[in-house]
Amino acid sequence: TRPKVFVARRIPDEGLNAIAAACDIDVWPGQLPPPPDELRARVADCDGLVSLLTDRVDAALLAAAPRLKVVSNFAVGFNNVDVPACTARGVPVGNTPGALTDATADIAVTLLLAAARRISESAGDARAGRWLTWEPLGWLGQDLAGRTLGIVGMGRIGFATAKRLHGGWGMKVLYTARGPKADADRELGATHVDLDELLARSDYVSVHADLNPTTKGLFGAAQFAKMKRTAVFVNTSRGPLVDQAALAQALRSGTVFAAGLDVTDPEPLPPDHELYGLPNCLIVPHIASATIDTRNAMARLCANNLLAGVRGEPLPNCVNPEARKQ
Ligand code: GLV
Ligand code: GLV
Repeated sequence: TRPKVFVARRIPDEGLNAIAAACDIDVWPGQLPPPPDELRARVADCDGLVSLLTDRVDAALLAAAPRLKVVSNFAVGFNNVDVPACTARGVPVGNTPGALTDATADIAVTLLLAAARRISESAGDARAGRWLTWEPLGWLGQDLAGRTLGIVGMGRIGFATAKRLHGGWGMKVLYTARGPKADADRELGATHVDLDELLARSDYVSVHADLNPTTKGLFGAAQFAKMKRTAVFVNTSRGPLVDQAALAQALRSGTVFAAGLDVTDPEPLPPDHELYGLPNCLIVPHIASATIDTRNAMARLCANNLLAGVRGEPLPNCVNPEARKQ
């Protein structure tokens, strides 16, 4: 009999068709995520689950799905999945690394440039009739060339972001990571430092660390206070790494110059949130991987993980390979 698979949202056809060729699939038709009780009900008799970063996969869900053999997350990040609970049940979890590295680095650079040059504020002013003349002292931003970039979390995406800004703008690169990264040091002349040194020395701070208990709230009032008053802060990883009240206060008081955020906490960020009211804060709705080719590539990786999992084979991209030993 064909494996049964629940797909928690419509993903690109390249992925759906590959899964449908080998499995009976139930695709959640909503634009919004399935509510948790609905998700539990739908996976109850499933062998595989395609989840999104908006779907919580936890012990309660696993308990409701005794046949589940694989969770294939349509994302590189997997903080929505309780991985230890999956491992304990022997359920491998797949993700989509690599596919979205370039698209995400592009958004990090876009946010960095836009925040540095006050693009959102000045474009809004032009549209609203506040462009009165060419102003010698109007809309002054920050330069990039030769400045120092601090990459918090030198993984694939951090590296790709640093490579763009080092190669294109000659930026000096500092980074944090669990240890020195030989390729970053060699190719980008980058230097491994601790977070305090990175914050003190960087003109631009771009966050690429994953969300886990040790990174939650990593950026609070103390961290913003250590940054330069001219510094630009960019986050394309996960919202909960940042204490948003502290960020808002730092932006309002001029403790930091500007921020560009692709991720917030919660998502969506409600339209009346104080961060939207700050002209030096640019927020886009978690679009870093949102290109046609990137989402297609993610769908292919996601399908490959799912199909391997329902067959009992090792996933091409697995975050808990030890699950198979359970
Ligand atoms: C998006 O945030 C992802 O983790 O792929
Ligand atoms: C994610 O793909 C990362 O390593 O940055």
